Amino acid sequence: MEEFEICGGHKLYGEVRIDAAKNAVLPIIAGSILCDGQVNILNVPNLIDVQKMADILRQMGAKVDFVEDVLSIDNSTINKCELPYDLAHDIRSSIFMLGPMLAKFKTAVVPYPGGCDIGARPIDLHLAGLKALSVLVREEGGLLFCDGSHMKSGVVHLDFASVGATENILMASVLLKGTTTIYNAAKEPEIVDLASFINRMGGKVRGAGTSVIKITGVRHLKGLDYVCIPDRIEAGTLLLASAVAGGKITLKNAKAEHIFSLIVKMRELGCQITFDCDNIYVQNSFRLMSIPRVDTQPYPGFPTDLQAPLMAFLATARGVSIVTENLFENRFSHAYELNKMGAKILIKGRSAVIDGVDELIGSEVIAKDLRAGAGLTIASLGARGKTKVKGVEYIDRGYAKLENKLAKLGADIIRKQT
Ligand code: EPZ
Repeated sequence: MEEFEICGGHKLYGEVRIDAAKNAVLPIIAGSILCDGQVNILNVPNLIDVQKMADILRQMGAKVDFVEDVLSIDNSTINKCELPYDLAHDIRSSIFMLGPMLAKFKTAVVPYPGGCDIGARPIDLHLAGLKALSVLVREEGGLLFCDGSHMKSGVVHLDFASVGATENILMASVLLKGTTTIYNAAKEPEIVDLASFINRMGGKVRGAGTSVIKITGVRHLKGLDYVCIPDRIEAGTLLLASAVAGGKITLKNAKAEHIFSLIVKMRELGCQITFDCDNIYVQNSFRLMSIPRVDTQPYPGFPTDLQAPLMAFLATARGVSIVTENLFENRFSHAYELNKMGAKILIKGRSAVIDGVDELIGSEVIAKDLRAGAGLTIASLGARGKTKVKGVEYIDRGYAKLENKLAKLGADIIRKQT
């Protein structure tokens, strides 16, 4: 096991480069199954979930190389349409392979996916959408046997603007004769990036980024080199780290418009934030007021993935905040750990009431999911004394060497074996 050991009290200065977006890279790796040629994704962060998606493809027979930050995938040698149970059941993004496998091979056997323990995380919307395209699904022993031999384009209406369901149904439609329309589609930037990847290969996806996406089937997708969008959640996490620790930092390769929901709020509090087309500049030198109310929403609302890092900031902001988590039913594990550090957070159902304290005290805390781990890490930057954050394996699922990025900015943080 590994842990972060952080001595708080150091302001952050300098610049750090934001990696490619985990939640764009993962569906794009799945989408590579649609392609007949070689796919080279050129800026891939070395994340545990990326390694697992690559291993899943390898176990299906694909040739996958991951050298430096280039992920090269040749799926022409895939000879299995069943996902390896242990790997696929470990991560949420394995379910993104269902759509492309049905599109390409007309058959797929997949387990229920895993992922961070932040709620039940059902896949009913994925399956309802695929059934609307005449996919036959039989469940047996925790496996889904899917028959796409009679698949045809059609109309899908999502009861909820699910990111994964939108991506899965979009990819299932790319090689289908005719036009498929998805209503109430999710509008996240990662979906726009997936559509851009597919269109660059020769696909015909229109409307990504809006709630109505139209996919016109094509027969063939050619190989390509592709660069994914920057990770808006990593950028938001480091912006909030700067708000907690103070100082002046530059986030290189960051798209401000992807996190305007955060930037506008932080500016209202007095945090000095400016930006140009590829960078965000953050300066903060005093204890900020709190934000009275934050509700997580699908994009472009405030992102659920920044809820934990935001709570880490609100724990020592001046005043009371109420944070409501509307996306996932179990995404407050970090609140209990922050209280161990002296925070005053009360959980009532889907809402957390945070009464900002002057200072947190370094303690031993445990990350129970990816973003909780990030939140606890940035809270420690402003805490008095030393904090040990256990559960770093969760953080490594979504941030490549977070400790190196923070240390480069002046934080006193090391990774230790326990
Ligand atoms: C994606 O998860 C992201 N993961 C999540 O990021 C992110 O929090 C989430 O979208 C929301 O933005 C990846 O892209 C790999 P959803 P996904 O389907 O697709 C319910 C991170 O920390 N739902 O939009 O699983 C679901 O239970 C991770 O990087 C159904 O009810 O999210 C949840 O309450 C965490 N039925 C809500 O919708 C379904 O079939 C949003 O889920 C699917 C979802």
